[in-house]
Amino acid sequence: MPSPKVFHERLSGKVAIVTGAGSLGHGFGTGKAIACLFAAEGASVCLVDQQHERAAETLTLITDAGGQAFISTGDVTDSAVCARIVDETVERYGGLDILVNNVGISGAPGRLEDIDEASWDRVIDVNLKSAFLMSRSAVPKIVARGGGAIVNISSVAGIRSHGSAAYGSSKAGMVAFTRELAVMYGRDFVRANAIAPGHIFTPMVESMLNEKARERRRKIAPLPLEGDAWDVAAAALFLASDESRFITGTCLPVDGGVTEIAALAAYDLVQQ
Ligand SMILES: NC(=O)c1ccc[n+]([C@@H]2O[C@H](COP(=O)([O-])OP(=O)(O)OC[C@H]3O[C@@H](n4cnc5c(N)ncnc54)[C@H](O)[C@@H]3O)[C@@H](O)[C@H]2O)c1
Repeated sequence: MPSPKVFHERLSGKVAIVTGAGSLGHGFGTGKAIACLFAAEGASVCLVDQQHERAAETLTLITDAGGQAFISTGDVTDSAVCARIVDETVERYGGLDILVNNVGISGAPGRLEDIDEASWDRVIDVNLKSAFLMSRSAVPKIVARGGGAIVNISSVAGIRSHGSAAYGSSKAGMVAFTRELAVMYGRDFVRANAIAPGHIFTPMVESMLNEKARERRRKIAPLPLEGDAWDVAAAALFLASDESRFITGTCLPVDGGVTEIAALAAYDLVQQ
């Protein structure tokens, strides 16, 4: 019988860029958890954040645990910044294998007449255009290594209505962009997959949801839990590693099953 493939140090020898690798507050946002997990699995990681002190906290966690990382500060809606981040990474670590497009901001809820043009543009720029700009700079370097992986952080709001036109549109765009990348660069062995997190408790959510709202989301999901940044990081690790070498173009919900239920079933769950 052939021996099973067992993976240790799942990103050993790989070089990764993670955008939004800092976190609001002291807990773990998804970028911070992804960066820490990738480093723990042997990757050398470029930590990107527009706020240096946020990335510095992630860097300390990684280096204290014996991992490899450095910070590249900047706003990833700027194409020159994205090019510089990729160049710095390649210069430092000799190549690039993995890109995680994680930055994201929430969009104002409300009807269209309540959304001003500048805030619409900013949400689309941060949540979608940044992924295009980072990927455009990163893909040639990943191709030069013989292939690698791009992981795009979308949202359940990219799959189902969520109540924010700008946020939902940007996150649905991220799913479509991922598919395009997968088809465009598959022959170069560059895989692209998205993750759609939902009902994840992070520092960003902590400032937006009170305990009652958190209880409501635990009640409406098939799994009566909230996820955390590590649940998203575990999915990102799988999609970035060679374990998923035959998977590309997908969008993986990490959401306790909430996108799978129809309203009728949700009513029953709330009653229980
Ligand atoms: N938290 C959730 O429940 C949830 C659910 C669905 C999707 N998401 C998505 O997950 C991703 C991360 O969310 P989070 O709550 O962990 O984030 P977070 O807000 O804790 O961290 C994001 C980091 O990105 C940085 N950042 C923001 N804009 C930037 C820019 N233009 N350039 C460089 N850095 C920038 C911030 O400074 C911050 O440190 C986002 O794309 C978000 O939309 C989160």
